[in-house]
Formats: sequence, C-alpha cells, structure tokens
Amino acid sequence: MSKSPESVAVVGAGLVGSLIALGLARKGYKVTVFDYRPDSRDQSSGKTNLRSINLAVSARGIDAMRYVDEDMSKEALKGIIPMYGRMIHDTKGKQESQIYGLFGESINSIDRAKLNESLYDQIDKFNKLNGDLKIELKFKYKVKNVDLKGVPTVVCVDPQGSDKETDVVKFEYDFIIGADGAFSQVRSSLQRYIRMNYSQEYIDMCYLELYIPPGPNGSFSIDPNHLHIWPRKDFMLIALANADGSFTSTFFGPWKLTESLKEPKQITEFFTTNFPDAVDLIGIDKVVECFTTYPKGALMHVTCNQYHHQDKCIIIGDAAHSMVPFYGQGMNCGFEDVRILLQLLEKHKGNRTDAFEEYTKTRHEDLKAILKLALDNYNEMSTKIGYSLF
Ligand SMILES: Cc1cc2nc3c(=O)[nH]c(=O)nc-3n(C[C@H](O)[C@H](O)[C@H](O)COP(=O)(O)OP(=O)(O)OC[C@H]3O[C@@H](n4cnc5c(N)ncnc54)[C@H](O)[C@@H]3O)c2cc1C
Ligand SMILES: *[C@@H]1O[C@H](CO)[C@@H](O)[C@H](O)[C@H]1NC(C)=O
Ligand SMILES: *[C@@H]1O[C@H](CO)[C@@H](O)[C@H](O)[C@H]1NC(C)=O
Ligand SMILES: *[C@@H]1O[C@H](CO)[C@@H](O)[C@H](O)[C@H]1NC(C)=O
Ligand SMILES: *[C@@H]1O[C@H](CO)[C@@H](O)[C@H](O)[C@H]1NC(C)=O
Repeated sequence: MSKSPESVAVVGAGLVGSLIALGLARKGYKVTVFDYRPDSRDQSSGKTNLRSINLAVSARGIDAMRYVDEDMSKEALKGIIPMYGRMIHDTKGKQESQIYGLFGESINSIDRAKLNESLYDQIDKFNKLNGDLKIELKFKYKVKNVDLKGVPTVVCVDPQGSDKETDVVKFEYDFIIGADGAFSQVRSSLQRYIRMNYSQEYIDMCYLELYIPPGPNGSFSIDPNHLHIWPRKDFMLIALANADGSFTSTFFGPWKLTESLKEPKQITEFFTTNFPDAVDLIGIDKVVECFTTYPKGALMHVTCNQYHHQDKCIIIGDAAHSMVPFYGQGMNCGFEDVRILLQLLEKHKGNRTDAFEEYTKTRHEDLKAILKLALDNYNEMSTKIGYSLF
C-alpha cells in the first residue's frame, strides 16, 4: 500500500476478531480493535486459575491460522491433541471406538485460552516491531452501533462518561469489520442500510460444562485421542482431552429436562443411571455442584445474507453465522472467513467494494451448507440413534 495506510476498526476481540486484526495489520492496515470486556491479560495473578475449555480445531481452521501467521499457528498448535475417532460409551460403561477415516483424518482438541493467548502474544509482538503502525486495543469500549451514512463511525459507550446510556464517544475509520459474536451490534446496525435476509432460531437444547480431572501424575483416565460421546436418546455427554491430563466434558439436553434436575438426589440418580462411568471420572459431588451452580447455555442458529454494505462494513465469524455446535465448526468457519476475506482484499488490490461483493457472493453458499450440516446433525441426533456427532 502506498500513501498513508487505510484505517480499519475491528469490533470484537474474540478469536475471530483477534485473528483478522493480526492479518490486516500484517498487510499494512492501521487497525483498532474494540471489546467491551477488560483485557484478560490484566488479571496478572494466577492466570491458570480458570479451567481449560477446549474446542475441536480442523484443517479448515488450521489453514487459516497458518495463512495469517505461521509463528502464531505453531505456538497455538503446540498443545493440540489429535482425535482419530469417536469413542462411544454405552449405559454400562462399555466403550467402542469408531475411527473417522480410512486415511486417519483427524480433528484436534485445542485449548481455547491458549489459542487466544497465542493470538494476543502475536499482537504484542507485532506492536513491539512496528513503532508507528501498532494494533490499537481498546478494551472496555462497548460498541452501541456503527454509523455508515458518511464516514464509517464506531459509536461507543464512553467508558469515562457518567451516564452509560447517553454518554458516547465516536471514532472514524475507512471501514469497519464486525466480529462481535452471535448478538452482534454491528449486524443490527448493518440491517438499517442493506436488505439483509436474517434468521435466528433457538434450538430446544442447552449445554453445561463439566470437568474430568487428570488421573494420577497427570495421566489421562480415558483415551485422549478420541472424541468421547455418551449418546442417549434425547441428551448426551461428550468429552475432549486437555494437554494436562484433564478432559472438558459437556452435557447437552433439552431445557425442560435439564432444568427439572434440581435436587442433588435427582441429579445423582439421573447421572448414575445414564452415565455411570462418567460419574466415576467426574465425581458425583462435582456433577451435582455443576448442575446446581453453573450457568446453562442456550444454543442458536443464525444466518444472514448479505454480509456487507458498500466498501464500508462487513461482518464475519459468529456475527455473520452462529451454528449449533454438533459439527464442531463455528470457530473453524470464522477463521476461514478471515482467510478468504484477506485473500480477496489482496486479489482486488485493496478495492474493498469488489472484495466485499465477491465475499458475499462466493461465501454464502459454503456457509449455508455448513450451517445446514450442523443443524441436520442435531436433528438426526435428537430423533435417531445419536451417533452422528462431528
Ligand atoms: C458449547 C459450544 C461448543 C463449541 N465447540 C466448538 C468447536 O469444537 N469447534 C469450533 O470451531 N467452534 C465451536 N464452537 C463455536 C465457537 O465457540 C464460536 O464459533 C467462536 O467462539 C466464535 O468466535 P467469534 O470471535 O466470532 O465470536 P465471540 O467468540 O463471541 O467473540 C465476540 C467478541 O466480541 C465482543 N463483543 C460483543 N459485543 C460487543 C460490543 N457491543 N462491543 C464491544 N465488544 C463486543 C465480545 O466481548 C467478544 O470478545 C462452540 C460453541 C459452543 C457454544
Ligand atoms: C481468552 O480466554 C480466557 C480464558 O478462556 C477468557 O477469560 C478471556 O475472556 C478470553 N479473551 C478473549 C478476548 O477472548
Ligand atoms: C507418581 O509419580 C511418583 C513420583 O514419580 C511415583 O512414585 C508414583 O508411583 C507415581 N504414581 C502413579 C500412580 O503412577
Ligand atoms: C432474500 O430472500 C428472498 C426470498 O427467499 C430471496 O429471493 C432473495 O434473493 C434473498 N436475498 C439475498 C440477498 O439473499
Ligand atoms: C473498485 O472497482 C470498481 C469496478 O469494479 C470501480 O467502479 C470502483 O471505482 C473501484 N473503487 C476504487 C476505490 O478504486
């Protein structure tokens, strides 16, 4: 790029926002990132007091990480654990391995915290090496809306203001990228400027995270190289390994059923009947504690089209497509959005109108197909045998 660099605001410093910020900065854009949360690195004391939560990362996501930053992908991928198949647990605790592919294709378990830490480290490193073209991180800035009438403007609640409702600060950029997740404010704003088709649907299922501690001396108490599944007719449990010998386990069940499990006695009976071997691994007291105190998450399916307005604004990641997690591709798809958008900006030599138009035109069919697969997997799982996960 010649002259002064083009400026871009990225709304959302989640996994997808951080990755595109890094990718754009490395291509010479002047990047500012907004997030309403505080910087997670500030909690200097004991950053590992949080339990690890893991994600399935696939070739789709890994390719995108490599494209943006080879060093970052190396660092983040160090602790991944390949899963070559799924391990089905029946109600007697018997296990049966089902291998994914003849040629050993696998998905991988990756630590979510480690992944976002690697991204932040790489942003810090970039800033140290680039005196006047730093990635500016604006934490504790809640974006209320974006104004796209004239110069693209990010409107935030003023963190120094006395009134959270009315005191705002505004920042102008050449363009804005919305990576602010499933409840995207950027998407809501965009809907005022374009004829966006949009749908949002909650499925009747919630999720709750459980935790399987490491075995003696940090050993794995079940096979780490499988995605463990306890499929039951209307509900299920899954578990993915963490590098420290533990597993993150997630219970999925209909809201009514899950919320009906209130009393320790009910929970104990439900778990020991349906997941006896998992109870041995997690510990019944922990199961009860999780059910009675941990938040239960909703799952929704969001689609839209189109994704951009002129050369001023575009949405990516969960802001543009939120899928139910039964295909393990939400973040992977968001990462792929990043790779494709960066490649199109390069292809069109920075002509954003052309790049955004081609993005919307070519990306939508792929996204539609993946979202449908995720929902089909859920429908099949909840009506048939329940073996179709991932
Ligand atoms: C139970 C479960 C399991 C999953 N498992 C997998 C898996 O195995 N593999 C996989 O690929 N995906 C998985 N996903 C999906 C994955 O978590 C998401 O696709 C991914 O986190 C989306 O990243 P994102 O950066 O687009 O959005 P988010 O992670 O939601 O980040 C959005 C960011 O924007 C910020 N923000 C939001 N609103 C504002 C605002 N108004 N102003 C300023 N900042 C704002 C938020 O603070 C946040 O930091 C799973 C999801 C669930 C629920
Ligand atoms: C990074 O991960 C940690 C641990 O999961 C979380 O507390 C923090 O909010 C995350 N930060 C971002 C910006 O995603
Ligand atoms: C754990 O490690 C210690 C020290 O190396 C060893 O003495 C002990 O036998 C190990 N325990 C098990 C269950 O492997
Ligand atoms: C929106 O939906 C209508 C009706 O299905 C369709 O005709 C139209 O092409 C869609 N627009 C976009 C941008 O997808
Ligand atoms: C981008 O390309 C289109 C034609 O495809 C052209 O009309 C437009 O002026 C170009 N925009 C810029 C900023 O060069």
